[in-house]
Amino acid sequence: MSSTVNRRAPGAPTAPDAPGFPRFPSGFLFGAATASYQIEGAHDLGGRTPSIWDTYCREPGRVADGATGDLACDHYHRYREDVALLRGLGVDSYRFSLAWPRVQPDGTGPGNPEGLDFYDRLVDELLGAGISPAATLYHWDLPQALEDRGGWRVRDTAERFADYARLAVERLGDRVDRWITLNEPFCSAFVGYGSGAHAPGAREGRGALAAAHHLLVGHGLAVRALREAGATDIGITLNPDVLLPATDSEADHAAVRRAQTMHNDVWLEPLLAGRYAPYEKETWGGLADGTYRREGDLELVRAPLDFIGVNYYRPITVSAVPHRDPDPATRTAVDIRAEESWRPDVRHTTMGWPVVPGAFTDLLVGLHRRYPDLPPLLITENGSAEDDTVDDDGLVHDTDRVAFLRDHLAALADAMDQGVDVRGYYVWSLLDNFEWARGYSKRFGIVRVDYDTLERTPKDSYRWYQELIAAHRERT
Ligand code: NOJ
Repeated sequence: MSSTVNRRAPGAPTAPDAPGFPRFPSGFLFGAATASYQIEGAHDLGGRTPSIWDTYCREPGRVADGATGDLACDHYHRYREDVALLRGLGVDSYRFSLAWPRVQPDGTGPGNPEGLDFYDRLVDELLGAGISPAATLYHWDLPQALEDRGGWRVRDTAERFADYARLAVERLGDRVDRWITLNEPFCSAFVGYGSGAHAPGAREGRGALAAAHHLLVGHGLAVRALREAGATDIGITLNPDVLLPATDSEADHAAVRRAQTMHNDVWLEPLLAGRYAPYEKETWGGLADGTYRREGDLELVRAPLDFIGVNYYRPITVSAVPHRDPDPATRTAVDIRAEESWRPDVRHTTMGWPVVPGAFTDLLVGLHRRYPDLPPLLITENGSAEDDTVDDDGLVHDTDRVAFLRDHLAALADAMDQGVDVRGYYVWSLLDNFEWARGYSKRFGIVRVDYDTLERTPKDSYRWYQELIAAHRERT
């Protein structure tokens, strides 16, 4: 276990380390995160219309066990209880997302007062508990009405996103401290429109690349709208990946370059370096025709940000494999001869993801070295899905999750010790919730949700995190 302070961040001197806890500088923020479709439920209440996930969940075979977010954790009705859990945890900030189809049901036109009222109540409840609200505008629940008009494949959705951002900030901007435009646009574009494993379930080539670009344009337009409304703490959440070649062969290294393009460069290069990804042609050939781009887009996309949100779960080992679809006419954007493989040397979580905390350090240090103008980072998600069981004492002794969090926080502290400017950490997730295509079969919460009774039970990891935050407060 390493102990460290962030040498770059200002703050009071820190007291000696509490046993078992990595240390962080004064002012470092601790939080917990969730997302609307994964926890809210109330899918048809208060004027909310279907999102692409409501549609996707109803298509047979898409989601494990045919699960939907119709009820989820029923956070819509139980948000007070959930805020009380956050207060008990002692977090500084709570990252949640707004459901676009709740705020603006048609994806266009006026806001929905009932939908906005819900977030208004949630924000006030948070402030009353002394917790700073951090709102994500888009965590994957696009109004179905917009998908019916082309979704992220078309530029109009980016413009609509900016209107929606305006509605949200006009109503909540006086009390929401931090805004995150998009969550993991990689998944929206390449899993939603490329592999089809997320809503809307499309398997396309050019459509996925156009979606990636329009997401970035939507981000840029939303940043502009937020700034015009006076917001001061604005960022985007990405899931940059550590990509390792399975072997030293030239073919595997080339596969890493292609994966690097899709996972990282498509996002980071326009946002931080003001250019498009360098290996697009090598990765996608003629699919990357750029016809969806317009002059001025790069300037828009690289609007200065107050932070970059980083979600980190695991490294990816990449090996060259034959194209899944040999026909260039029907090949999708993810058929790029690069595949993830199992690592025999480490533990895997129930998602099948290898546990490699050192890769978290490498990721952050790598970003810091590669982008000289990198804004401060916020870890907007980190956590693990485990096979939790309720013990005879009625508690959940999730030792694997505690070890995961401890080791990843230590890895984060290591990165900060190497000069990376990280301002805060949000654990994923406050609650067990709807894990997208895996339904309710995967539990990421530090609080258990009994899906029959909706009862919430804090796990050992909740208590561990609570103690870590308390120890941090005491010594800074
Ligand atoms: C990242 C996503 O933002 C979140 O919604 C998801 O539950 C976690 N990864 C875990 O897969």
